Amino acid sequence: MGVSMTALLDAAGVIPVLTVGDIGQAAPLARALKAGGLSVIEMTWRTEAALDVMKAMKAAEPGMIVGMGTIRTPDQAEASIAAGADFLVSPGLTPKLLPALLASGVPVLPGVATAGEAMTAAEAGFEVLKFFPAEQAGGLPYLKSLQGPLPDIRFCPTGSISRERAPDYLALPNVVCVGGSWIASQAMIEGGQWETVEANARAAAAMRT
Ligand code: 3PG
Repeated sequence: MGVSMTALLDAAGVIPVLTVGDIGQAAPLARALKAGGLSVIEMTWRTEAALDVMKAMKAAEPGMIVGMGTIRTPDQAEASIAAGADFLVSPGLTPKLLPALLASGVPVLPGVATAGEAMTAAEAGFEVLKFFPAEQAGGLPYLKSLQGPLPDIRFCPTGSISRERAPDYLALPNVVCVGGSWIASQAMIEGGQWETVEANARAAAAMRT
């Protein structure tokens, strides 16, 4: 494993979570995010084009660090690495997926939503955990409550976090970064609203602590 997940996410601050269905959107999207100051992104595997879009974004902006998200199976993990994913993100952990993620050779951000799941993931050796779906699973108060009993476990909350709420999450001592689709929503991507994406990326980059 080259760069650690902690180092990668510390540098990221805010991670755009992207769902892209058309490869033609990859290059302008990558350029807009980069121009706004964000270069670590999560590409969700929720469209058939996801792997190709990831490759195209990296080709358009070679400095971009692209993680493949919504990983649910060992096969998806393997295919993502083969396609050049820099890191992997999962919405949760399963007995089959956990060893595959550990063996993947790249940084991994596994999803958890409870104290018990966080303890299992930390025991397995994962450094930073995706708290998902953040707002629905308890939000800021829940993460604050984990700080006492689990002070060594750090999180990247994701799930319905708005631009307005993101700074509150980033201010928590056990939060390394936040993820969200507000920077580049599906509507913005489909509508080619690259100036809006760039402006949102700039606002997100300014939240980095
Ligand atoms: C995720 O998959 O991480 C979330 O769905 C991010 O998107 P949201 O900010 O729209 O919840």
